[in-house]
Amino acid sequence: GWKMEDVLEEELKIIKDTVGPDDHVICALSGGVDSTVAATLVHKAIGDRLHCAFVDNGLLRFKERERVMETFEKDLHLPVTCIDATEQFLSKLKGVTEPEKKRKIIGNEFICIFDAYAHDLEKKLGKKPAYLVQGTLYPDVIESCPPPGSGRTHSHTIKSHHNVGGLPKDMKLKLIEPLKLLFKDEVRELGRIMGVPVSFLKRHPFPGPGLAVRVPGDVTEGNRLDILRKADEIFIQAIKDAGIYDSIWQAFAVFMPVLTVGVQGDQRTHSYAIALRAVTSQDGMTADWYYFDYKFLADLSTRICNEVQGVNRVLLDITSKPPATIEWE
Ligand code: XMP
Repeated sequence: GWKMEDVLEEELKIIKDTVGPDDHVICALSGGVDSTVAATLVHKAIGDRLHCAFVDNGLLRFKERERVMETFEKDLHLPVTCIDATEQFLSKLKGVTEPEKKRKIIGNEFICIFDAYAHDLEKKLGKKPAYLVQGTLYPDVIESCPPPGSGRTHSHTIKSHHNVGGLPKDMKLKLIEPLKLLFKDEVRELGRIMGVPVSFLKRHPFPGPGLAVRVPGDVTEGNRLDILRKADEIFIQAIKDAGIYDSIWQAFAVFMPVLTVGVQGDQRTHSYAIALRAVTSQDGMTADWYYFDYKFLADLSTRICNEVQGVNRVLLDITSKPPATIEWE
């Protein structure tokens, strides 16, 4: 409506007034809605003095890098450098099984990579970038700390991985947070009027540490990540085909690092299991497991065992939050 168009004009003006005519701005794109809308807005205001980086940490979903890069480049014409850091991340994660340790390693590695990107850019430009764009939303600003003793990092702490604290002091980057007064549905509306594809704006949330929190234990062992990607893709496509994607807060597959016996054809198998997780929620703080149709589940189970080598069993997670969390780690 007219209201969000006014917000857009207002935001563009603020960005133009803030960023000097020779200033350059950097932004880390996660592939999520918030950073994408924030970058699109800044790009509209200052053009190619915005420089974005998208980091492939080796923990992304099936074809995720290709898909988001296509949206960035073809739909949004954003200037994006795609950094393939798969090897760096996975070598650091080798043998690591403790969930919080995995998160910390991923967060630190991200800082290193983004830091190197910023310094390379400085060399190329012959001057330091002046600003860093972040997709902070209003709820992130007002959100309180995670419950004491929960041992979990919540979104505000998590986003600090991506913020100025992780960059070298000599950069002295100032923050631009153009979404910090908006709620999620307003961000989607703002994205829509700037031409961000609606299917992109409706994507389920995805955690920063990626598939690492969906492979309990060592993520680098065997081809766990590939097995998980294939099963997850089948699950998500089936959900989209059934027309229920928008009724679900989050849906994903989880790799079960446990070998069980099965029989496929006339072969005895000793393979892994996949758990399916789908929840409804308002804000991710509490969640209910989603009631699928039995026929849908039966077909899905058959497909996953037939199509994903190394899987002979499919489980359904029927736990709400609390007592469980949405992710498995
Ligand atoms: P949990 O598993 O705590 O997840 O019930 C709640 C919501 O937060 C997401 N999540 C994360 N997001 N970094 C993120 O950016 C993280 O480390 C992280 N852990 C959980 C989760 O996907 C869900 O939407």
